[in-house]
Amino acid sequence: MKIIRTIAEMQAWSDEKRRSGAVIAVIPTMGFLHDGHLSLIDTARKSGADAVVVTIFVNPTQFGPNEDFDKYPRDFERDAALCEGKKVDAVFAPSAEEMYPKDSSTWVVEEKLSRGLCAKTRPTHFRGVTTVVAKLFLATLPHLAVFGQKDGQQARIIKRMVRDLNFPIRIVISPIVREADGLARSSRNKYLSEEEHRNALSLSRGLGRLKAEIEAGETDLQRLLGGLRAEIEGANGVVDYVEAVDAETLEPISRIGGKMMFPVAAYFGKTRLIDNILVEK
Ligand code: PAJ
Repeated sequence: MKIIRTIAEMQAWSDEKRRSGAVIAVIPTMGFLHDGHLSLIDTARKSGADAVVVTIFVNPTQFGPNEDFDKYPRDFERDAALCEGKKVDAVFAPSAEEMYPKDSSTWVVEEKLSRGLCAKTRPTHFRGVTTVVAKLFLATLPHLAVFGQKDGQQARIIKRMVRDLNFPIRIVISPIVREADGLARSSRNKYLSEEEHRNALSLSRGLGRLKAEIEAGETDLQRLLGGLRAEIEGANGVVDYVEAVDAETLEPISRIGGKMMFPVAAYFGKTRLIDNILVEK
């Protein structure tokens, strides 16, 4: 497994793979890898990748001024060993200086899907994500890229960016991986105390119940969202949002039907967690 630190070396590696006819997949991450990240590697292989590149870069531009950039968990040695164990072909782990020249002044901004949901409390987050993902695409030159449904809004925004800017890259969205108790895996779960972790199970429990209720014929959206909110608040969660949106356009929906996504964000203690469920009716 090759560990690559510079954009020039990354592009040369990918050029050579492309010349040999390999299909390259990239999996962008901020490291501190867990089973959710690792499942994306399996999805990449199943989607036809011959060469898998995992990028590990804690991207400063997607953190707000009062967010956890400095204390975001990092463990490169462990991440590299996990990638090696999954037979990843290359890890691209540039420095912040390599990714962002000092006087860098260009952004990639998606202006529609990046406005609601998480953007309401994190207004500059998605321009950081779209900018860094565009730069990672141009460094790794992949044929396909895999993102997790865990970050449902992010995945839709990346798909839109790729379509709008003609990136010749297929975007694959991979299902949410959960802990045995239902909590969606996240690098931020490590911030939770035992009690907060227990309380945070209200997210997956509430979403699971909401889906079951829809499948059983419930059609009252306000009642469904109210039930989800009550479940989270009953477990000491502070709700940022609970919403019902179209799974592709992220537009709020006013009635049950079609491909729907129910995204939630809530604080347990100081930790902000997100989760969502897809429902089709
Ligand atoms: P990060 O939070 O490290 O996540 C990297 C990728 O792993 C994302 O596509 C995310 O959706 C996926 N992922 C995380 N937890 C998951 C889970 N439990 N199940 C399935 N997939 C999961 O998302 C980012 O990094 C950054 O914003 C990034 C795209 C790398 C840009 O900096």
